[in-house]
Amino acid sequence: MTRTVRVALVGLGHVGRAFLELMTIKRKTLRERYGLELVLTGAADSTGAAFGAGRIDHANLLRHKRAGRGAGQYPRLGHRNMPAVEMVQQVDADVLLEASPVNLRTGQPGLDCTRVALGRGISVVLANKAPLVLAYQELTELARRHRAGLRFSATVCGSLPVLNMGRRDWVACDIQKIEGILNSTTNYILSAMEMGRDFDEALREAQAEGVAEADPSLDIRGWDTANKLVIIANAVLGCSATLDDVDVLGIQNITPDDLAAARARGQTIKLVAVAHRRDGEYRFAVHPAALPLDHPLASVTGWEMGIVWHTDIMGVQFAKVDERGPMPTAAAMLRDVIDLYADVMER
Ligand SMILES: NC(=O)c1ccc[n+]([C@@H]2O[C@H](COP(=O)([O-])OP(=O)(O)OC[C@H]3O[C@@H](n4cnc5c(N)ncnc54)[C@H](OP(=O)(O)O)[C@@H]3O)[C@@H](O)[C@H]2O)c1
Repeated sequence: MTRTVRVALVGLGHVGRAFLELMTIKRKTLRERYGLELVLTGAADSTGAAFGAGRIDHANLLRHKRAGRGAGQYPRLGHRNMPAVEMVQQVDADVLLEASPVNLRTGQPGLDCTRVALGRGISVVLANKAPLVLAYQELTELARRHRAGLRFSATVCGSLPVLNMGRRDWVACDIQKIEGILNSTTNYILSAMEMGRDFDEALREAQAEGVAEADPSLDIRGWDTANKLVIIANAVLGCSATLDDVDVLGIQNITPDDLAAARARGQTIKLVAVAHRRDGEYRFAVHPAALPLDHPLASVTGWEMGIVWHTDIMGVQFAKVDERGPMPTAAAMLRDVIDLYADVMER
């Protein structure tokens, strides 16, 4: 038996478009392996929203978007300049996928879209970190109250299942320390600078891959890494931490000379996120660190991201991913949709 899941998508940028592609290329797998059929019932971008009676042909919307037109101009179903949140108020959907840009000041449009969807009992899958960073407790409580799912495995390192490991697999562990390279844009820039390229050239390459944040200062000044650390703190470590609890220093002042000097000392400079428990309390920091070359994170180069978990009863575990472009993040959103649906089946 195939179950139809109605999907509404906010954000049709690199990640949103990759998700539309997945709806086509994984259609058979979803049906045969999971008994799922995803149908798109709404979509929104900065030009407005598209929704109405029935479904949207997702492949057609992708062609429309690639031709440089927006959701607001979509034939018959387009609502020019309609804010995404109005679409979320009205659309017939089981799941909202939120992939609009991070806005750390207001959280919008992602925060209100998430609130409205959960309030209507619509489950939410986030790629956008801002709603969680600004309102983790509120949103998890809202989801609980309205018996809606809230999944966000894509928000921390895309397809690397950092949150799934942390929440599900370190059973009964005390986590003493986490060290992570959680941002591939800065890791790529540092690796490229080690190989002699200049900062601006390396940043342009990261932007061309569709991985850098819309506002790249979020990456470079360490805030994207700090966002991920805050989500890990809340979702895995059980701390209601906010960005105010994280000491943040980015890579903006690192020079090729610093990198060469570190190499000469047998070290490599990485932007590292650390959660460290001392006297029963976690301290959180993001900063460039000179790591010895035998440190596991020293092997995390270029587009890779990685994390080291120091646990009391499951040893020290290290995982890393080499992922390029937005597809792995869209795939993590698909992972969450499948996970969500499996939970719904079990209830
Ligand atoms: N790229 C990655 O690899 C990656 C990895 C992990 C997490 N993420 C997160 O995923 C989210 C999307 O990333 P992305 O790379 O796809 O970003 P992007 O390429 O900049 O796309 C952003 C999309 O959001 C739309 N948008 C902007 N303002 C909006 C508004 N007010 N209302 C509705 N839609 C609006 C844009 O509309 P237009 O198309 O009309 O401009 C665009 O479609 C971000 O939160 C990012 O942090 C991305």
